Amino acid sequence: MSRKILITYATKAGSTKKVAARMAELASQHGFSADLLPVSAVKSIDSYDTVVLGSAVRMGRVLPEAQSFVEKNQAGLKQKEFDTFALCMTLSTVNEENLKKSNAFLDPIKMVVEPAHAAVFPGEINLKSLGWLDRKIIGMVKSQVGDFQDWIAMETWMESVLQSDSPSVRA
Ligand SMILES: Cc1cc2nc3c(=O)[nH]c(=O)nc-3n(C[C@H](O)[C@H](O)[C@H](O)COP(=O)(O)O)c2cc1C
Repeated sequence: MSRKILITYATKAGSTKKVAARMAELASQHGFSADLLPVSAVKSIDSYDTVVLGSAVRMGRVLPEAQSFVEKNQAGLKQKEFDTFALCMTLSTVNEENLKKSNAFLDPIKMVVEPAHAAVFPGEINLKSLGWLDRKIIGMVKSQVGDFQDWIAMETWMESVLQSDSPSVRA
């Protein structure tokens, strides 16, 4: 029987959903039985061997629903392979300070359940997909705008998640 993987995500403007969808596609190509769901639609994680959680970062934090998902499912996640990633704009410029700052975005999740793999990637801001308040915030904090996603880095990370969770590696 193929291994079951849940790719679940919390998004505001859609970029994390697109990344999660690509990860689910890769998992299927590797022979996993993959489900793709927003965290709000996950009823139970019991049937999965692996759970991958992705979240957007806003105002210095992963989205509250991503954090709640980990807290609510803490016991179950500790019994499985759990991996997590986040998208942020801090990494639109890569330097030591920004790497340190962005890695810390996942600390509140790591404090609840230690993931096997965790990574933060540069994301995307498309002003057309934001409401007026978000556009105002982006203007006020003078954030970079545009698509900084590194698909090769994200796919490589997912490949390593899938490889470490293959039955031959686990046995
Ligand atoms: C209102 C707003 C606040 C944001 N706050 C942060 C932040 O504090 N730190 C950061 O690195 N990126 C921040 N970002 C960038 C997002 O994390 C990035 O655009 C990500 O790709 C969004 O994911 P989503 O499209 O799935 O919502 C912010 C973006 C918006 C629109």
